Amino acid sequence: MTARKGGGRLGVGIAGSGFIADFHTRAFRGVRDADVTAVCGRTEASVRELCDLARRLRVGDPTPYADVREMVRDPAVDAVWVTTPNHVRLETVRAIAEEVSSGRAALRGIAIEKPLGRTVAEAEEVLRLVEGAGLLHGYLENQVFAPGVTRAHELVWARGAAASGAPYLARCAEEHSGPHSAWFWQGDKQGGGVLNDMMCHSVEAGRYLLTPPGVPAGEWLTPVSVDATIACLKWSRPAYADDLARRYGPEVDYRLRPSEDYARATVVYRNGDGDEVVAEGTTSWSYVGAGLRLSFELLGPEYTMAVNSLDTEAKMFLSREIAGKPGEDLVEKQNAEGGLMPLLPDEAAAYGYTEEDRHMVTRFLDGEAPAEGLDDGLEVTRLLMAAYLSAQEGRRIDLADPATAERLSSFVPDVAQGTWRPAR
Ligand SMILES: NC(=O)c1ccc[n+]([C@@H]2O[C@H](COP(=O)([O-])OP(=O)(O)OC[C@H]3O[C@@H](n4cnc5c(N)ncnc54)[C@H](O)[C@@H]3O)[C@@H](O)[C@H]2O)c1
Repeated sequence: MTARKGGGRLGVGIAGSGFIADFHTRAFRGVRDADVTAVCGRTEASVRELCDLARRLRVGDPTPYADVREMVRDPAVDAVWVTTPNHVRLETVRAIAEEVSSGRAALRGIAIEKPLGRTVAEAEEVLRLVEGAGLLHGYLENQVFAPGVTRAHELVWARGAAASGAPYLARCAEEHSGPHSAWFWQGDKQGGGVLNDMMCHSVEAGRYLLTPPGVPAGEWLTPVSVDATIACLKWSRPAYADDLARRYGPEVDYRLRPSEDYARATVVYRNGDGDEVVAEGTTSWSYVGAGLRLSFELLGPEYTMAVNSLDTEAKMFLSREIAGKPGEDLVEKQNAEGGLMPLLPDEAAAYGYTEEDRHMVTRFLDGEAPAEGLDDGLEVTRLLMAAYLSAQEGRRIDLADPATAERLSSFVPDVAQGTWRPAR
């Protein structure tokens, strides 16, 4: 089961042992030529749980570590998946890059969870460190690997766009009722609110959909402008702010320091045909439906495609006679245990983690750059920061203006500084 350097299998070390590390571990069931060989995290119990899960699922026999430097020195680790929280992203990557650059660790590649950084400066530093260490790199944006999205994208380009022209409008949304750990809710730690946390998915999904299959989005699309709105619709209401403080402690204070729980952004691009095309993104932590809802639409001259993660083939109905215990066994961020409920039998596959991990593993083993790289992550961060700037200043941001690039290079959103006050 142990992977050897230079062999035909990739030994993966997972840095971080929380929610998304659990998803990746489940996703590795669908990856034939990799083993989870190590896990490191801040709490011994969560690391042990993840190692046990990997053994139970037969995706590896990982060695537990408390320190990421020690983990990457393990010769059974050929590549690292970075899943630590946003506020420790940079220090995690710096530690890994230093170990590799000094020759204490030998890695083939690094895959890093979204968002790449909390600011453009941070994302640029992450990319610089990884390139400096000479590593192949992948940006873990699962939605552009979700089978519903990739297959519909492939078919709509092959049949619709080939016959009638490239698509001109993408609409992407991710919505749920709020994140699962305290740090997500804290603007300084997370980098903002739902715009930073979830619009990163919708912005990248929009870039992906508007771009022909197999072509890098950065080559096909030139960003023209960004226009955005943010608001705190639910969680700054006193009763809900108190609920957050009860759940997460006094550091999460939405009476005094809210983050946005709603964001919408419109990004205008010029595409490879020279036409103007538009990507709309809507994200919220104030959506109460069955659970997490991902939706995607792509519109072109003679065609449309649509994907909605809650339109599942499997559903169940529970009558009012049954008082179910709260759980997340039907769907991520589940909000109810009764009535007619959608259920997703394999969320790791449906949301794209399995295909994403398979792609990264294959490219690292082949010594080739993944299709989704950290340069894509940096571009997403630039667009997100332009969206915050637009929302803060109430104006459309011209991305062709060199002054915008200069401004964004050191921009920290008010939400991330704890100084944002929503209109009441
Ligand atoms: N692609 C997606 O859909 C998706 C979904 C959720 C989270 N994420 C991203 O994954 C990252 C982690 O999110 P999460 O939901 O797993 O968070 P989480 O709070 O559930 O888990 C974070 C884990 O990191 C560990 N950790 C904290 N500081 C650490 C350090 N210094 N060194 C090592 N480990 C440390 C914690 O102990 C915890 O186990 C974030 O960047 C988040 O944006 C992506």
